[in-house]
Amino acid sequence: MESRIVHPARPLRGEIVIPGDKSISHRSIMIGSLAEGETTVHGFLHGEDNHATLKAFRAMGVEIEELAGGVLKIRGRGLDGLTEPGDVLDCGNSGTTIRLMTGLLAGQRFFSVLTGDRYLRKRPMKRVTGPLVSMGARIWGRGGGDLAPLALQGTPLHPIDYASPIASAQVKSALLLAGLYAEGTTTVREPHLSRDHSERMLTAFGAELRPFAGGVSLTGRPRLRGQEIRVPGDISSAAFFLVAALVVPGSELLVKNVGLNPSRSGVIDILRAMGGSLELVDERQAGGEPVADIVVKSSRLKGIEISGELVPRAIDELPVVSIAAALAEGTTTIRDARELRVKETDRIAAMIGVLTALGVSAQPRDDGMVVHGSDGLRGGTIDSCGDHRIAMSTAIAALRATAPVTITDTACTATSFPNFWELLDKIKT
Ligand code: S3P
Repeated sequence: MESRIVHPARPLRGEIVIPGDKSISHRSIMIGSLAEGETTVHGFLHGEDNHATLKAFRAMGVEIEELAGGVLKIRGRGLDGLTEPGDVLDCGNSGTTIRLMTGLLAGQRFFSVLTGDRYLRKRPMKRVTGPLVSMGARIWGRGGGDLAPLALQGTPLHPIDYASPIASAQVKSALLLAGLYAEGTTTVREPHLSRDHSERMLTAFGAELRPFAGGVSLTGRPRLRGQEIRVPGDISSAAFFLVAALVVPGSELLVKNVGLNPSRSGVIDILRAMGGSLELVDERQAGGEPVADIVVKSSRLKGIEISGELVPRAIDELPVVSIAAALAEGTTTIRDARELRVKETDRIAAMIGVLTALGVSAQPRDDGMVVHGSDGLRGGTIDSCGDHRIAMSTAIAALRATAPVTITDTACTATSFPNFWELLDKIKT
């Protein structure tokens, strides 16, 4: 099993370019495959999660060419052009792949089976299979349809108006993708806005979407047309380096190509509220999404309260935010983040384990955690639990430890950020 030893760091300096957004990369393949004509994707993220999506669409007859420089050419087959896969579709570790594809496959004219690794096979699927069944979908899974492997017999679907109890882009997107196959209007409501990449991309491809306060509606059976997509850098990946520069004294980093979609940029608001110096430069648009470079300088951080609408806008960044909190003055409380319990691992339990092992006083809550800031962390050995964001958050904490930190099971970082370790080495002085 791969492990890494991370040593305490001197000031971090230099510039890094953040690789493509994972969520947008998944959607580019899915929507590009359902469009008519060619879709070119620039800046596609070549991570393991996105490759699971790519392989699944190839297995359904879609020609996808990988060109130099992270460019993909997808020869779209139209809404009804996918073919029955000859084998089970393996989604690996990727929740976005399995949940969005469950929606997309429910309305096909063929049978398919979706599965994943041992972590994914423990994650709840009822949140998508439940509403899909009420659209007429025929889906079977372990645990009464809650756990993969999931078997789907494609069938005609009817539209629904669904109020999701959780703010989840995977739920919303699965239902919108299913709604493409239902005649009429499919509506999804959510308690807070979750990331809206599906809505933006479907609109760019020619679908009719109507966002409103608290939800979005889509008209079924649109004609989607191939597009040129520029994938911005993933703010969830940038977050590790933003926190690193904030907490290592004397640091200054230029973090380039950061996607700043407002439904994703909660981490910027959180780190600024904690007192972090983050300056946006060269603000621009790429592929219908706002993008900027960020100059980040080490700062004295203070504890804050994080809850409500901020949580879905920063959900994947909360593990590394807890590291910032551990090195801040005062107490940070995270609430309304129960969803962290059903990510790649239980991220509340995992981060409490990391923080405690590094000498920080931190207590779990049912829906979050309380972290008491300290001056520095101690070294030790930490297991990533097979979760990429736990491994990378621990690596950032290790930069401020008084002794080396050994992180075990680190190969998982390749799911979302294949060159993370290389970039981390590059900025150490
Ligand atoms: C994602 C949505 C979020 C996020 C995940 C990616 C997406 O999950 O945590 O990493 O691409 O739609 P939920 O929908 O479960 O909140």
